[in-house]
Amino acid sequence: MAIAGCGHISKKHAAALKGMDIARLAAVCDIRRERAESLAGQFGAAAYSDYAEMLQDKNIDAVIVCSPSGLHASMGEKAAAAGKHVLIEKPFVLRLADGVRLAEACRQKGVRLGVVHPNRMKPIVQALRNAVDKGLFGKITHANATLRWNRRPEYYRSEPWRGTRAFDGGILYNQAVHLIDLLNWLAGPVSEVFAYGASRMHQIECEDVCSCVLKFSNGALGIIEAAVTVYPENLEESLSFFGTEGTAVLGGRTMSQVMEWSFSSLSSEEAFNQANRLNQTGNTGGHKDILHDFADAVLCKREPLVSGREALKSLRLISAIYDSVTSRRPVKVTMQGGA
Ligand SMILES: NC(=O)c1ccc[n+]([C@@H]2O[C@H](COP(=O)([O-])OP(=O)(O)OC[C@H]3O[C@@H](n4cnc5c(N)ncnc54)[C@H](O)[C@@H]3O)[C@@H](O)[C@H]2O)c1
Repeated sequence: MAIAGCGHISKKHAAALKGMDIARLAAVCDIRRERAESLAGQFGAAAYSDYAEMLQDKNIDAVIVCSPSGLHASMGEKAAAAGKHVLIEKPFVLRLADGVRLAEACRQKGVRLGVVHPNRMKPIVQALRNAVDKGLFGKITHANATLRWNRRPEYYRSEPWRGTRAFDGGILYNQAVHLIDLLNWLAGPVSEVFAYGASRMHQIECEDVCSCVLKFSNGALGIIEAAVTVYPENLEESLSFFGTEGTAVLGGRTMSQVMEWSFSSLSSEEAFNQANRLNQTGNTGGHKDILHDFADAVLCKREPLVSGREALKSLRLISAIYDSVTSRRPVKVTMQGGA
């Protein structure tokens, strides 16, 4: 595999590939050559500063796109055109039309397309998925995603792309996309949204607070609250599910604990023990699991857990939310097409 973009997140991928049985890091690329050389030196890979040149490297079967978010679509398409499988860091892409085009380009070239949403692999999230699938909630009445984080001004000053509409995309694409992916995966699809966004603290092009009301296709309601303005530091990242027969809340600062777990089908003791066992799994499940799943999907010719098709679902939802912020009206979430 190759990494394109050797900044902050690339190190997690390189470390996750180290010692993996079914994949290895063969090359890395960054327009800042010193970054490519430093990462390549640490992990024993070839270094490139020209992406097109790296794509000619016969040792590479797949590319992990770790560049600023606004470049994901074009870099993904170039990788697919070169016949490489494509794994894209979150957020998938920043425009629905680009996502549809990239998914189609991968389909036509017969390469796999995956997106990095490591939270789907967390044992607490898998347990919630299992509870939903088994119908333990009865009729779901409402489901919420809450992101109450802090990003300091230095964060936005650290790279010119941060906080820009074209390359960062805004709080829903950059920070809340993992939670939105989970909410949609577990309780979706969403049929209609109404949202406000505001820039209350940071001097950036994008909003730093966003409040959205959701109507799910099954009639349940929901709320997404996302903020990077919370004083003095990250407070909460949580998912709350409420049904006629159950309540579950996954929370903590980075959604790593079961805060509430109660179902009519379980005694209080059973529910307490389940929650305790899950809480002992800690914050496991992450980049290594997603990379392993993607490499396995390539080798076994199957779809990865978070495929392009899956990523398009949350992209449609986020696009609709931003359409609502701009138009100040409720917006229906399209299930197909790339307008
Ligand atoms: N899944 C996660 O938990 C997670 C966490 C952090 C970041 N991310 C995502 O990863 C991506 C990168 O974030 P980051 O924090 O590492 O950013 P970063 O700014 O630290 O790194 C991006 C790197 O890409 C390089 N780059 C820019 N244009 C390039 C090009 N054309 N070819 C090759 N390299 C190029 C830059 O020089 C830089 O080194 C973003 O999309 C971000 O949203 C995901």
